[in-house]
This record gives sequence, structure tokens and C-alpha cells, in this order.
Amino acid sequence: MDESILITGGAGYIGSHTCVELLNAGFSVTVFDNYCNSKPEALNRVESITGKSLTRVQGDVRDRVALEAALRSSGASAVIHFAGLKAVGESGEQPLRYYDNNVVGTLRLLEAMQTCGVKTLVFSSSATVYGAPQFLPYSEDHPFAPTNPYGRTKLMVEDILRDAFASDDSWRFSILRYFNPVGAHASGLIGEDPQGVPNNLMPLWLQVAVGRRECLNVFGDDYDTPDGTGVRDYIHVTDLAEGHVRALQWMAQSDGGLCRAFNLGAGVGYSVLEMVRAFEAASGKPIPYRIQPRRAGDLAGFHANADSARSVLGWQVTRDLQTMCADTWRWQSNNPSGYVG
Ligand code: NAD
Ligand code: WQD
Repeated sequence: MDESILITGGAGYIGSHTCVELLNAGFSVTVFDNYCNSKPEALNRVESITGKSLTRVQGDVRDRVALEAALRSSGASAVIHFAGLKAVGESGEQPLRYYDNNVVGTLRLLEAMQTCGVKTLVFSSSATVYGAPQFLPYSEDHPFAPTNPYGRTKLMVEDILRDAFASDDSWRFSILRYFNPVGAHASGLIGEDPQGVPNNLMPLWLQVAVGRRECLNVFGDDYDTPDGTGVRDYIHVTDLAEGHVRALQWMAQSDGGLCRAFNLGAGVGYSVLEMVRAFEAASGKPIPYRIQPRRAGDLAGFHANADSARSVLGWQVTRDLQTMCADTWRWQSNNPSGYVG
């Protein structure tokens, strides 16, 4: 396949893993990233893993002129849009920055795509658009009720895409709602490299395992879940990356326009304590933990109904929890300071 794809935010955690899968599937790749939460080194590693080269453009998605230039020079037929800010807590402290980056950035991108006649987009949405579960597993028609500015940026962009499609049905949009991405590429060369203090469970586990943190705080053991701790649907980042390739292939097969959302999750929930046991098995290190009060804004538990992705995209996860933890540990062991040094 000699098709060129522009990937905004392609140097980030999910973007870099998706670049690997796209290059392996024969696509040409141009990454458009301002590196506000990533390192260019990730892209060197993508090239090492695949033995293929990609094109780098440093730019901001709010810069329409730069996007148009990148779309033209790459000859892209489709865009995967990862570029965005993703820290839930920070989105409450700096909501304007989040709306500007995530919503305005996507508007500029859509305008540039329209100008350049590129009408196919995969958008990184999130299970966070659903909010408190009215039923589980969440299916794509679950009502929307995001509980923080970050989640609202994702829902706003989804609404923008649905409105754009309603006015012009030549657009092709795949909205992918990720559950909890974890893991790293099996090579141990690329993985998550959080800047500053991490918020998510996996990077915090790693800091405990390597002795940078005394113990893991378990936020709440009195939820209505089997062991009282929070339950999430963890998905290996390579499975997630493969979902993007499937979405592109599905859209390419269509004669007309499309606008459809897909849950990308494993369909299975694991509790924090189940995760602790899996971390211990993968790292061979005891993970001391302390039960703490619930974290504000956390939900008890949720998981995905990913039937649509299976039946329409022909996608399903193939990597289990053990693999998610083993791959994460390999990345951490090989790169104790992430991409630096
Ligand atoms: P990440 O921070 O690792 O990657 C985002 C990339 O976008 C980074 O390389 C960053 O430098 C770039 N970027 C941000 N703003 C930009 C801008 N204005 N212009 C150009 N580049 C910009 O995050 P990730 O975990 O890889 O997430 C990718 C996408 O998936 C995000 O949109 C995120 O909201 C979404 N998502 C992530 C998760 C998760 O838990 N990781 C879950 C659901 C959805
Ligand atoms: C997982 C579980 C915590 C840290 C967030 C965003 C969501 C999505 C993914 C982008 C929960 C518990 C955590 C710790 C703990 N991102 N936990 N101790 O909160 O499900 O989702 O990231 O779209 O929008 O909200 O992920 O990894 O923070 O937490 O006990 O030190 O681990 O309470 O049950 P979360 P997480």
C-alpha cells in the first residue's frame, strides 16, 4: 500500500506505537508534532523498530498554514489526529488552555483538511465522554456526560465532527474511544514517557518498582467492585495502534462518507489490586501499597463493549494483562529515564 498518512501528535505515547503499525502495514508516514509532551527521539526509535523512515514536521495544530503545508508536501490522503493535552486534573486548573489546544486545534485541522481536499480523519476520543455508567459495558450509544474539561473537549470535538458530516457527507470520520491504554512495544524501544509527576496507575507502579516512590497509593477500597478497588478496561497500546490501521482500511473501502464511533477496549475490567499482583509478577518485585481515600472524580468501574470494532473493523485485542505488564517493564528496564540519556 503506497498511501501517505499525516499523524498529528505522532511522537507521543499512542502516536509513536501507531507509526510503527502504519509503517509495518506499508503506509508512508508524516508526523506533525510540537513536542510539547514528547521527544523527537521516539521517532528515531520508530525507525529503528521498523527499518523504515518517516517524515517529521515540527508544528502546532493551531497553525492552519503549517498544517496546509504539511498536508500538501506529504500528499496525505488521511489524517490521524492524536495531538492534544490529556491530563484530567490539569484540565480543571487550565481549562482555557485545554479548550484552545484540543478544540481550536481540531477546528484548524479540519479547515486545513477541507482546503487541501483531504477528507478522511481518525480522531482520538476517550471513554471519558460517557461519564458515570448508566449501564455496563458501555456501548457506543451510552449517553454522554463527561465530568471534567478534558472529557468535554473530547465530546465537543466529536460533536463538531458529527455536525461537519451532517453538512457534508463526503467526510470520512472514525471516532475511536480509547479505554485505558497501557503497555509498550514488545521491542522495549518505545513506551510511555510521562513528563513531570504521572497521574496514571502504570507509570506510578513503575516509579515504585524502581524505588523512586516508596509505595503505591490505592485510591479507595470501598467501591462497589469485587475487591472494593477501582476497575478499568486496560488495553495494550499495540492493540490500540492496530485499531487505527483497521479504521483507515475500513474507511478506504467505503464508496461514500462515514461518521462512526468505536469503543477500543479489551472488554474486561481489572481492579487496582489485580493490577498490583500482575505488576509484581511482571517485575519480580514486591509492590508495597497503601489504601488511601477515593480520588476525587474517579468512577468505581467500567469496561467496553467493543462489538462494533470487532464486527465492522475486524479488530480485537490479542494481548493479555501479563503481556501489558511485561512489555511495560521491559520498556522501563531498558530506558530508566525514558527517552533522555
Ligand atoms: P501524548 O501526550 O503522549 O501524545 C500527544 C502528542 O501530541 C504529543 O506528542 C504532543 O507533543 C502532541 N501535541 C499536543 N498538543 C499539540 C499541538 N497543539 N500541536 C502539535 N502537537 C501537539 O498522549 P497520548 O497518550 O499518546 O494520547 C494521544 C491522544 O489520545 C490524545 O488526544 C489523548 O487525549 C487521547 N487519549 C489518550 C488516552 C490515554 O490514556 N493515554 C486515553 C484516551 C484518549
Ligand atoms: C486507573 C485506576 C484509579 C493511580 C484516566 C483519564 C481518562 C483516560 C485514561 C484519557 C483508577 C486507580 C490510579 C494511583 C490508584 N485518559 N489509581 N492509584 O483515571 O481510569 O483514566 O486516564 O482519555 O480520561 O481519566 O486512569 O490510570 O489514573 O487510574 O489506585 O496512584 O487506578 O483510582 O481506579 P483513569 P488511571
